Amino acid sequence: MTGLRNRDEGQVTVDKDTFRAALGQWPSGVTVVTTLVDGKWHGMTASSFSSVSAEPPLVSVCLLKGIYTHDLIADSKVFGINILAADQTEVGKVFAGMRPDVDDRFDGVAAHTEQTGVPLFDHALAWLDCRVVHEYDGGDHTIFVGEVLAAATPRIAAPLLYHSRSWGQFADQLPETAIVHETGLVSALAGHPDDAPGLTSALAVAGVSSPPVAPTIDTRDPRTIAALLEGQTSATSRERVLVLHAFDPAAHDAVVEAVGQLAANGVTEVVLDDTSGDANPLIVRQRLADVSVRIRPATTGVRLRDHAGIGMANALAALKSGATVFDTTLGGVDGVVATEDVLYLFDVLQVGHSADRPAVVQVARHLRATLGVPLPSHTHDIDG
Ligand SMILES: Cc1cc2nc3c(=O)[nH]c(=O)nc-3n(C[C@H](O)[C@H](O)[C@H](O)COP(=O)(O)O)c2cc1C
Repeated sequence: MTGLRNRDEGQVTVDKDTFRAALGQWPSGVTVVTTLVDGKWHGMTASSFSSVSAEPPLVSVCLLKGIYTHDLIADSKVFGINILAADQTEVGKVFAGMRPDVDDRFDGVAAHTEQTGVPLFDHALAWLDCRVVHEYDGGDHTIFVGEVLAAATPRIAAPLLYHSRSWGQFADQLPETAIVHETGLVSALAGHPDDAPGLTSALAVAGVSSPPVAPTIDTRDPRTIAALLEGQTSATSRERVLVLHAFDPAAHDAVVEAVGQLAANGVTEVVLDDTSGDANPLIVRQRLADVSVRIRPATTGVRLRDHAGIGMANALAALKSGATVFDTTLGGVDGVVATEDVLYLFDVLQVGHSADRPAVVQVARHLRATLGVPLPSHTHDIDG
């Protein structure tokens, strides 16, 4: 079906449903456009925001004629643009009028004013304070062009997206290659000191190495970050840093902030450690999405635990969210995800790596014989 329809004058135009369907395929960010009337704030969700000019700084937004916000901006001649972050879907729904039970759309939204007096969100990715300089007729919409008087980027985080009536965020592609490290075996084999060197070197031969001891920071104790940045740690390398308790649900901002600080100070690899087993696929996704914006050009690594089999789900979420380094333990013997399990996941997902998985599996079986107990790992019996 072409979606063409005859018009009286003999011209053809697209039919309404086809037009809407086609436009639904246009992915966009999400903003809340705000304004004020008699000193009272009002706002609505809008995705028709666009940049127009750099010199002078101009932006535009298209609003349906007759909706409340349209008429308010036509009167007040001022508007604010607040660009929403991936964790602000609910704000987007409230300001789109999709929560009829909400009386005050600004309830729970921290906002302040700058030059024009319109509300600007403290937790937006960015806000722009604008005064209307042009209004163009755009069919059933009006195109408001605003001069930007002030702007800021209060948060660096992943953006909220809208596509085909769905709210979402960027789905990062799987990396082409990733690295598996062994970081837990030596301490797990403390009771078998004669066997540890042989197993560790067999693993190295199989392509899984143990990186130098890395310094750690704990976002719950900012002194650890200061000590690291001032060079007061005894670890052998400061290029790679472990962030403890990195998936603590209450520590989101502290972890993202700390990672930004580390990357800005030349750390090249930051490993987020699930020290207390807080991680689940949702937390991993959210944390890594925001960390990845801050961490460039450094690399993101993870050290995940494997309680209740959730380790593989977390590893998948991490892989899809920008992690390319995985700190693991052979056999999963210390509760950290097993080296052979992560390699199995890489093979299933066709993520390249430099390890010989069947050889790693053989070492895992030696480990089982050494310990004389079943291994927690899920794949040490899978060959090939
Ligand atoms: C993701 C999304 C984007 C939207 N973008 C626009 C837009 O660009 N222009 C518009 O007029 N309405 C847009 N709307 C609809 C308005 O948000 C909705 O009509 C709102 O309730 C208007 O508020 P008001 O009646 O208080 O002015 C959008 C809705 C959603 C969910």
